[in-house]
Amino acid sequence: MSAQRESWSTRSGFILAAIGSAVGLGNIWRFPYVSYENGGGAFIIPYLIALATAGFPLLFLDYTIGQKYRGAPPTAYGRMKKSAEFVGWWQVLVCSVIGIYYASVLSWAGQYTIYAFNQAWGGDAESFFYHQYLQRGSGLDFTIVPSLFIMLSAVWAIVLFIMYGGIRKGVEIANKIFIPLLVVMFLVMVIQAVRLPGAAEGLNALFTPNWSMMKDPKVWLAAYGHVFFSMSIGFGAMVTYASYLKRNANLTGSGLVVGFANSSFEILAGLGIFSVLGFMAVASGKPVSEVVSGGIGLAFVAFPKIISTMGDAGPIIGVLFFTSLFVAGLTSMASIIQVPISAVEDKFGWSHKKAVTVIGGISAAISILLFSTKTALTFVDVIDHFANNIGVVFGAILSIIWVTWLNRGLLDRLIRHINSISSFKLGAGWVFVLTIVTPISLIAALFLSLKSLLTKGYGDYDLMTQVIFGWGMVVFFAIGGMILTKLKGHVSHDELKGDYHE
Ligand code: ALA
Repeated sequence: MSAQRESWSTRSGFILAAIGSAVGLGNIWRFPYVSYENGGGAFIIPYLIALATAGFPLLFLDYTIGQKYRGAPPTAYGRMKKSAEFVGWWQVLVCSVIGIYYASVLSWAGQYTIYAFNQAWGGDAESFFYHQYLQRGSGLDFTIVPSLFIMLSAVWAIVLFIMYGGIRKGVEIANKIFIPLLVVMFLVMVIQAVRLPGAAEGLNALFTPNWSMMKDPKVWLAAYGHVFFSMSIGFGAMVTYASYLKRNANLTGSGLVVGFANSSFEILAGLGIFSVLGFMAVASGKPVSEVVSGGIGLAFVAFPKIISTMGDAGPIIGVLFFTSLFVAGLTSMASIIQVPISAVEDKFGWSHKKAVTVIGGISAAISILLFSTKTALTFVDVIDHFANNIGVVFGAILSIIWVTWLNRGLLDRLIRHINSISSFKLGAGWVFVLTIVTPISLIAALFLSLKSLLTKGYGDYDLMTQVIFGWGMVVFFAIGGMILTKLKGHVSHDELKGDYHE
């Protein structure tokens, strides 16, 4: 099966798809609100440190594991060391859960693109988002909201249509169309935004470091969690995309291009959003920190509010912003859902069509059932928090410990492999960061997360919601991972040994 594994048609095809995976809702929707909640300017420094100490080292590791062992995470880890297949399944399950809520936020972006033409949110964007659009109920309310249902179903239909095309005819073509479109639209939007009166106020808020905030561990946690989400590392997306690379692919060179493109986009999004916040601050005579409430709603509440005050520029900026959000999210969504699809193809030998139909169908059904309801926003918030701060971080720790601490020889082999085909060579510096700095930072981050969740819970959601959709999900990653590891595959890892790039 794996002998006919597809490959990217060109190096640029892979780089565009990897940028498409990294640049997503994380850059445009998540980064501004996470940095806003964590002190604005204070966030840039922990973010850059997280990028250097965990982001790039793990990005290179993910690429190498995927490319060398030519498989989705369970197969790739299993080929590296049989018992490590579990690490791969853990990542696949985390990724599947991310996909299920990611589609929901993507559908909001699609809906808001339409709303932006005539500013359908009217005079009260906040009430519109929570009450009219999401129809947020109290507690767990499974009543279906028809408009959410329709848009979310449409999003899944588009995503699965792309996935049926496979790597070259689906994912690669979609990225070749959407990434250039995204760059142009987003640049136009940001240029418009930074020319607004008052933009400088917002940019000052973004770039003035607030040193005292940096003493707060929460800021560091948020920085690490965000870097993983944004770079698509630690949950299998980059391992999977790299598994379709050819034998002589330049791993670190591509990694640097993708990583820098992703961060540039993130900073660009920050420039755009903080410029409009500055505009609003000057227009309303309040400091930037007080003009809007942060949180998940920043893109869907603050942005519409601001657009409404922009006169003629409003619809243009609004449509550009939400279309960019949608397009960026769509290409990331493709990489997320590719992970479980590829995993079952590799392990069980399913055809691509069958894998897309079964895995895509089940994911779509769960996603639509949960996220078309009046509890959608709560699910997004709780699942995003637990999946990223526990699922992704723990998955990354597992992978580093399994690969580097328990198998020193393996790391040497990986480095030899990377350096034999890549332009930017890795050495003792990378080993030090990856084996010491990254795991220590991640273990500290996980410890703080667990402590806070166990003592204070998350947000003010009721215990039941947190136990089922937060902790329950973590248990599901563990038990599901063990069961999937135990199931017999269509061929053993050893039988496929000759199949990967030694
Ligand atoms: N990396 C993707 C994003 O930033 C998941 O949205």
